[in-house]
Amino acid sequence: MTGRPASLIITIDGPAGAGKSAVARLVAKRLGFHFLDTGAMYRAAVAVAIAEGIPLTHGKAIADAVQRVTLRFDWDTDPPKLYAGDVDVSQRVRDADVSCHVSPVSALPELRRVLVTQQRAIAREHGRLVTEGRDQGSIVFPDAGLKVYLDASPHIRAARRAQQLRDAGREADEQQILAGIMRRDQGDSTRADSPLVQPRGAIILDTTSLSLDEVVDHLEALALQRMAEIDCDGNEGFSDAHTTTE
Ligand code: DC
Repeated sequence: MTGRPASLIITIDGPAGAGKSAVARLVAKRLGFHFLDTGAMYRAAVAVAIAEGIPLTHGKAIADAVQRVTLRFDWDTDPPKLYAGDVDVSQRVRDADVSCHVSPVSALPELRRVLVTQQRAIAREHGRLVTEGRDQGSIVFPDAGLKVYLDASPHIRAARRAQQLRDAGREADEQQILAGIMRRDQGDSTRADSPLVQPRGAIILDTTSLSLDEVVDHLEALALQRMAEIDCDGNEGFSDAHTTTE
């Protein structure tokens, strides 16, 4: 019987639409961990900036505004709701204007510094955490106990995003979504500060031909295996035995 370690950070990184959010949320649920959607925090920063009329190139002003309003997740809801101050921005952060601007805004170093600090503070409070984003395994939690990099072809990622929107009762133009995904891939992986990379020591999983359940099953098995290792040797550091890339 595998124990549950007091703390274990599982990072899931990858490009837009690779299924990180859905996978991370379900894996967290199965393990009884908290789930952190860091992309939603960058999206919330854009929503706050738009609401306050701050130009979207002003990193310091956006970072200050985000600290002033305070971003907060409500961990009692599933998925956790995200608040900017008293305002529930969980839906707002998915709007097209936010999606359109989030890649360049997320490249602003002043904003990244503030959000990375907040993400580490969340991890100190919620030690058993599945966190997803672009830099979680590489920059924010380089010593995470388990690191995963999810990938999939751009076309399948666009198709999944479109389906997600339709499931939520929203309109979806797949071609437009594909163009947006490719633009964001380009921006996220070529920016100077914390570009999207496969983190050192991450397990790479191409989900193009896998169902959501298959990916979740696979990651749950990896997490349980990792927990069993921690249980055995009391070592919560990341073992190179997991390494598939360098
Ligand atoms: O995963 P997402 O589509 O909600 O992310 C929105 C944007 O935020 C995306 O352009 C990449 C950026 N992002 C980031 O730079 N670092 C993170 N940890 C998470 C997201």
